Amino acid sequence: MFKLTNLVRPNIRGMKPYSSARDEFKGEASIFIDANENSLGSMAASQHYNRYPDPHQKALKTKIAQIKEVRPEQIFLGNGSDEAIDLLIRLVCQPGHDQILAFGPTYGMYEVSANLNDIELRQVKLDADFQLTRNMLQGQIHSETKIVFICSPNNPSGNLINRSTIEYILQSFNGLVVIDEAYIDFSSEESWTKHLIEFPNLVVLQTFSKAWGMAALRLGMAFASEEIISFLDKIKPPYNINEATQEIALQALQSTERLQDMIQEIKENRSILIKELKKLTVVKKVYPSDANFILVEVTDANAIYKYLLQAGIVVRNRTNQPGCYNCMRISVGTKAENEKLVKTLKYFNL
Ligand SMILES: Cc1ncc(COP(=O)(O)O)c(C=O)c1O
Repeated sequence: MFKLTNLVRPNIRGMKPYSSARDEFKGEASIFIDANENSLGSMAASQHYNRYPDPHQKALKTKIAQIKEVRPEQIFLGNGSDEAIDLLIRLVCQPGHDQILAFGPTYGMYEVSANLNDIELRQVKLDADFQLTRNMLQGQIHSETKIVFICSPNNPSGNLINRSTIEYILQSFNGLVVIDEAYIDFSSEESWTKHLIEFPNLVVLQTFSKAWGMAALRLGMAFASEEIISFLDKIKPPYNINEATQEIALQALQSTERLQDMIQEIKENRSILIKELKKLTVVKKVYPSDANFILVEVTDANAIYKYLLQAGIVVRNRTNQPGCYNCMRISVGTKAENEKLVKTLKYFNL
């Protein structure tokens, strides 16, 4: 049975979090000389940037909770979802002893964070369609396995991972199941956040870096049980979301109309790009995509990558990733960018 307190590292269970000046005083006051800030003002654009930001990001979480239909207590905010990945590993994995499981090819930061924390990453190869089946899990989960990472839609393949296999893992695994939904806004399926109550071991990651177009601001979300979130809050750096990011994100969340328009446009551009890429002689296969990028198998990924660079076009060469020989990952650009890419590829080797 899943029991979070058994899973959390013993040194963290009883750990006292840092108590910031803003934690210790919560009432109204007119003079703040408790945090060694600059009381004269700020050299930055906004004068109030002299003050530390809200360490609990209350306003932002309240708004996100409304939009995502969860409670604010079910939300952790990180300096990008990369921060959440790292903190989740640190929360439950004993360095030099524990393991995490992921399915490759997939997002590289699970491995980087595992290495950084001296945790072994077991990577099971996805099948030829980049899908995950129950059989592939046989013998892969051990007593040292504390987290299973599932990226859906998966980066770099672009496909959603089979819901029934994910459900099976959620039901049968007693560690954390982290579903990374960085690209969910471009997909046809609903988010796993709808199932947080059902599965106490579920953590869903989302980000403002993709559909929201706010990669520069570094804001990621983890949705989970109140219990998991309170542990993440306990171990995070106190002021991990800066004031500018909190303000700008709050503003962006006020009106989501443009977000839906952009998602729609990216999906339309994706359909056109897939159709056009399929017509090219250099393209051997175009994988289906539920994300804002497309994995494309070409005749010679290394040569085509260099050729595109010379034309000023940068794509991601994924030929060295498991199951991705001669594949490139191409983000869906503007209509004009996609047209330029297709036109350039047409002239390769001519
Ligand atoms: C699957 C996946 N998860 C997480 C991230 C990181 O997102 P963030 O910018 O929120 O750190 C990325 C970025 O490319 C990604 O592809």
